[in-house]
Amino acid sequence: MSDNIFIATPEAIEQAVELLKNGEMIAVPTETVYGLAADAENNQAVANIYAVKQRPQFNPLIIHVTDRQMAERYAYISTLAAKLMDAFWPGPLTLVMPRRDTASLSPLVTAGLTSIAIRCPAAPVAQAVLRQFDRAFAAPSANPSGQLSPTHAAHVAAGLGAAVPMILDAGPSQSGLESTIIDVTGERPVLLRPGTLTIDQVEEVAGITSVSAGNKIIAPGMMSRHYAPSAKLRLNALTPRAREGFLGFGPIETTAPDNFNLSPSGDLVEAAVNLFSYLHRLDTQYDFIAVAPIPQQGIGIAINDRLKRAATLIDK
Ligand code: TXA
Ligand code: MG
Repeated sequence: MSDNIFIATPEAIEQAVELLKNGEMIAVPTETVYGLAADAENNQAVANIYAVKQRPQFNPLIIHVTDRQMAERYAYISTLAAKLMDAFWPGPLTLVMPRRDTASLSPLVTAGLTSIAIRCPAAPVAQAVLRQFDRAFAAPSANPSGQLSPTHAAHVAAGLGAAVPMILDAGPSQSGLESTIIDVTGERPVLLRPGTLTIDQVEEVAGITSVSAGNKIIAPGMMSRHYAPSAKLRLNALTPRAREGFLGFGPIETTAPDNFNLSPSGDLVEAAVNLFSYLHRLDTQYDFIAVAPIPQQGIGIAINDRLKRAATLIDK
């Protein structure tokens, strides 16, 4: 175990909050993925997040809050936003709202936008850190920009190494896939990134949700190649070819030596939990990975979104 991983005991959480107060970064477990957190009001601290992740500075960050009341410090909350918060906070829903004029925020957080993305995580450790810190932390997923998101403390250590003084470990992330991002700056909700909360769940509360046209990058998760392993992915594969690792789904027979199955019983929620973690493992063993077809429904929509982006070739 890396020496910057600490089991998230009350003492470790207290220490983590001290680090945040001193403008340092910490890695925090949330129910979606592990986040790389720093004081959202401290410009240098936020700058360090971009540096450590090698994240392009035009990609704004999500800030994390304890509840709606804390969100009010940073954003103007519309009736539509309030309705979604009441239904899904705390939980895996990020809302993009108009940034409050008087908000004390590092300008780097919003990358020059007049809107701000806010999430209220449900995971007890993230909540405890936020309550004790008593202000928002900015936190992208705790991985080098463009690579696979971390669902275990060890993934963070492998990706970012000693650059993070403290990684709080609360075991594997519960849902394993990032939050759903909804833009509520207009009258109708707009889906910016499919995620753990399904579109059907959002529509039940907020009515028809349109999907962002995606022709300009407003969320880096919308960049064509993202969430990518170094191996080359082949999607909708029923059987692996020679030299390919295989990521199965459902009752698939395979002769592959390492048969990672996202969910042998065909459960999409279980598949989401395992997705990044199995890709991390296959990526260390194979240059080529074949992935079984995943049904395009419920959280399967978000899984396919990540797989498609991970499979996109970079133009060199
Ligand atoms: O589940 C999650 O959301 C995790 C955990 C750590 O909370 N965080 C996460 O952060 O996935 P990150 O940085 O990997 O993705 C944040 C996404 C990016 O696609 C970013 O462009 C988008 O949020 N975003 C942030 N502010 C925005 C804004 N004002 N308007 C539109 N998109 C925004
Ligand atoms: Mg990310």
